[in-house]
Amino acid sequence: MSQMEIIPGLADVPVAKSAVSLIDGKNARLAYRGISVETLARDSSFEETSWLLLKGDLPTQRQLADFHHELRQRRKIKYKLKEVIKNFPEQGHPMDALQASVAALGMFYPVRDVTNSAANWDATLRLIASMPTLVAAFHRLRNGDEPVDPHPDLDHAGNFYWMLFEREPSPSIRKVLDACLILHAEHTMNASTFSARVTGSTLSTPYNTIAAAVGTLAGPLHGGANEEVLAMLDEIGTVENVKPWLDAKRAATPSFKVMGMGHRVYKVKDPRATVLQELAEHVFSEMSRPKKYEVAIELEKYCAGIYGTKGVWPNVDFFSGVVYQSLGIPTDLFTPIFAVARVAGWLSHWHEQLENNRIFRPEQVYTGKENASYVPLEKRP
Ligand code: ACO
Repeated sequence: MSQMEIIPGLADVPVAKSAVSLIDGKNARLAYRGISVETLARDSSFEETSWLLLKGDLPTQRQLADFHHELRQRRKIKYKLKEVIKNFPEQGHPMDALQASVAALGMFYPVRDVTNSAANWDATLRLIASMPTLVAAFHRLRNGDEPVDPHPDLDHAGNFYWMLFEREPSPSIRKVLDACLILHAEHTMNASTFSARVTGSTLSTPYNTIAAAVGTLAGPLHGGANEEVLAMLDEIGTVENVKPWLDAKRAATPSFKVMGMGHRVYKVKDPRATVLQELAEHVFSEMSRPKKYEVAIELEKYCAGIYGTKGVWPNVDFFSGVVYQSLGIPTDLFTPIFAVARVAGWLSHWHEQLENNRIFRPEQVYTGKENASYVPLEKRP
């Protein structure tokens, strides 16, 4: 047993077969069910993309219309669940609130048997539909505001914005939010997706499965880099300061990491960063271009000359924080928005896991004592 090789972080160890998404890091390619994410972000909607991820193919007009309808019917949350959320501490992190409320949501809709495909589909719809409501409800209640009821005439992204701010988004803001949801909806076997598959493999409920994934996404090594990018851009302050700032950082710490740059898989510019930037330009044409965005562009340019040959280029987080902030979204909601999007990917993997399930039960290499004696309490020093 003790000579078993451990692969830290299971890096490069396949843990499941999956047909949901594919990353080709050398060629800046991310595809959901074979369709490039750039195409989806430009031409699709979050709802259509969710269907694609879940079902494997694009929906027909009829299927999409029904899907819209079914989701809208499940956006509202129970009065008692709102009361639960109302009692969360205002200072609590919205990701913790989301994890707790997803678990609580499941108590209102108990799933007794995950081999029942109709019940699983109902839970899938409910989770996708109500995650924005849960995030928005906590955000409003912590600020002393009443939650806003879902807007029946708005799509998923537009309704999310509506429930957060009690106003409808402009078409370009709606589009950029929708595209952000599409871009974050799925990303192969990352930590939170694996977490969902592990929990799902025990035949636990879909609500527990998603609550587990939310908890995994909450960690700063997974969901939180975009917040750090904003702090970094604040620290740099001006376009003129980019060069002196980076030179000073590198002089002080040769291995200094620029936040929002580099990726384990992408060795070119993350395709999601490219699309996000394009869409951000649209939004910024409606309002003044944020100073932070100008700083980010300058930083990207300067970094290209320094790190480009190492394959370190902007990842999705380099621009997403700037975009969210320009939409008026508070920093601590960035990761919950990520979860609102990623739930579609998590659920697709959960369904896939159940199709051919075997409980995850890996091995360990024991490094503890052997044959230790039990010393009675009174005889211990
Ligand atoms: N800035 C400067 N140099 C970098 C950066 C960076 N952000 N990222 C990697 N490098 C350099 C490393 O110093 C290393 O150089 P060396 O070969 O001279 O030692 C080389 O590029 C390879 O880097 P690794 O750390 O081996 O790359 P790894 O794949 O392990 O790390 C990671 C990827 C963690 C994303 C890293 O690039 C990083 O810390 N980036 C900043 C944080 C960040 O933006 N995280 C979000 C990732 S995207 C997401 O999770 C949604």
